[in-house]
Amino acid sequence: MTAAASWPRVEGLAYGGDYNPEQWPRETWDEDVRLMREAGVNLVSVGIFSWAMLEPKEGLYDFAWMDELLDLLHANGIAADLGTPSVSPPAWFFHQYPEARVTDKNGTVMGFGSRGMASHAAPEYREAIARMAGELAQRYGSHPAVVMWHVHNEYGVPVAEDFGPRAVASWRRWLQSRYSTLEGLNAAWGTAFWGQRYDDWEHVVAPAATPTIANPAMKLDWARFTDDQLRECFVIERDAIRAHASQPITTNFMAHQSWNTDLWKWAELVDVVSDDHYLWSPDPDAHVGLALSADLTRSVAGGKPWILMEHSTSAVNWQGRNIAKRPGEMRRNALSHFGRGADAIMFFQWRASRSGAEKFHSAMLPHAGTGSRLWREVVELGGHVEALAPAQGSVVEAEVAVLYDWESLWAQDLEWRPSDDVQFRERMRTFYERLWRDDVTVDFAHPGQDLSRYKLVVAPASYLLTASSAANLTRYVEAGGTLLVNFFSAIVNENDAVHEGGFVAPLRDALGLTVEEFLPLREGDAAAVRWTRGGEQVLASDVWQDHIALAGAEVVAENVTGPGAGLPAITRNEHGKGVGWYVGTRLDVDALKTVFDAVYADAGIEASGNPETLEVVTRRGAAEDFVVAVNHGADAARLSVAGTDLLTGAGTDGEFEVPGGGVAVIRTAHVSGGEEV
Ligand code: GAL
Repeated sequence: MTAAASWPRVEGLAYGGDYNPEQWPRETWDEDVRLMREAGVNLVSVGIFSWAMLEPKEGLYDFAWMDELLDLLHANGIAADLGTPSVSPPAWFFHQYPEARVTDKNGTVMGFGSRGMASHAAPEYREAIARMAGELAQRYGSHPAVVMWHVHNEYGVPVAEDFGPRAVASWRRWLQSRYSTLEGLNAAWGTAFWGQRYDDWEHVVAPAATPTIANPAMKLDWARFTDDQLRECFVIERDAIRAHASQPITTNFMAHQSWNTDLWKWAELVDVVSDDHYLWSPDPDAHVGLALSADLTRSVAGGKPWILMEHSTSAVNWQGRNIAKRPGEMRRNALSHFGRGADAIMFFQWRASRSGAEKFHSAMLPHAGTGSRLWREVVELGGHVEALAPAQGSVVEAEVAVLYDWESLWAQDLEWRPSDDVQFRERMRTFYERLWRDDVTVDFAHPGQDLSRYKLVVAPASYLLTASSAANLTRYVEAGGTLLVNFFSAIVNENDAVHEGGFVAPLRDALGLTVEEFLPLREGDAAAVRWTRGGEQVLASDVWQDHIALAGAEVVAENVTGPGAGLPAITRNEHGKGVGWYVGTRLDVDALKTVFDAVYADAGIEASGNPETLEVVTRRGAAEDFVVAVNHGADAARLSVAGTDLLTGAGTDGEFEVPGGGVAVIRTAHVSGGEEV
């Protein structure tokens, strides 16, 4: 079999969730499909945790129940996203192959009785997953219910790393192929420091438990290696399926919620990108994190429509305090994902489990049954998803790129950084939130990719920036782009070694400065900057200041207090046809408003002027646009747009009111460059 389809064959947008019927008696399945039809479900993911049911003893398969299930779904017009069960091998597998278990960094071998405990380096595991994926594909590759393959589940979760002997042997082979010689490895890792020089490959260790911190370059390579191992396992299963089946193959990512996988690389391996997202309940504005995750997913998908494979109808069960969604919140969440490019709205899971670790997790069909508020909202959302069909395939276009690089995240997360208060995730979220509140739609981008189509490129946390990526950013500015770089960026190269010429040196031309010394603040200390461009303002700052060495940049704000008092804090540099901005202190979302307004002016970008709690994104279709508005505020908000709401059929000739907590998807004339086309 060759050419894979790139979207599952489902009528309209897909709606549904994980379905685990093996947890229920057969008669419940009939009720399930009846209720699925009532809710408008047209796609379910099955088999993800079914290995023990499909192969109860090694080599002894039982496909009868899966045959019956797929036939039942098909007879009811419900398509299947067929999972491979590799995240949860059966008890017999670990009994038979104990060396295929994962070892943690302290040498503890993980036991059975959970999930995700197989070593991705173990040949027995690799052989078993290839066999199981092949068996499934052979049997179901032509089954009319099966429209997609779902390999594994959330690679890298719950464990990605394995420090067992098999993994360490693979690690040495991986290093040999990366560096060829020990001289190469010694140079890349800077092993002259602390006398860590190696003269034999067999002496190279994994960064397991060490007395004090392990070599950071080694740890960065270990993160790359770990990710590579997971990708190898995906490819093994993908290829085993592809030999017998032509449906699209995916695996569910967790963009910006799990950090072990470099999704720029993963996205190239799948036929269609799918993602899971769960609200982080300590965050009162968790819907902003949701939007970030959705934009990141669309970006790794190269702008193509993607599948929201899992989110929750209400509370999850695995956080400290599992906060139930309020009435209307599930719909806002789903529509926000849709607005940012998801053409499939799926949940974990269809029917709440009575037993096991996730019995307190919400579901489409809750323990309370169909007499519940949640069920009514699930049915209502199914109707909405059906109404969105005209927008299927429309795309999101962004004028701004935010740089996101998993390698930089891995490197920044290593120990012994100048301040514990400087965090990749926090900076990414804060800069993103500024843009989100301004309704400025963004793509995420790798710093090495072509950025020429963007008016503005923002680098909230680019600690690791290779010389070639820095040259790419510099060319972008020279050609007329506007670049905004936050502090603690362009510090190290791909080996976590400080750049020659010092901090920020590779961006010296673009930004008109370098940084002499970091001046982090003590925990909890507040500071301020005086902004002087277009009127004076004092902005609150904290955590960090830089001793900036100017090399041509204009100072637009200086530190008023703190260790860097009197030194430049924010700068602007004209270079070639463009502008490079630098923010050398930590600003919150409100303080960043002043900076972004000035940066938008340079880049020719207009913030919407809508209330900050009204989220607005436009999906562009072939002949018309779809303006998706999600009101996270309690009060009604007005939106200037003419068209018809796909969800209610209500028309508007210029002003549309989105009720507090409400949503709307306005089908409107396709506008390009201010003119109708
Ligand atoms: C996901 C996982 C699901 C389920 C869910 C609960 O990360 O893929 O199987 O465990 O979390 O929120």
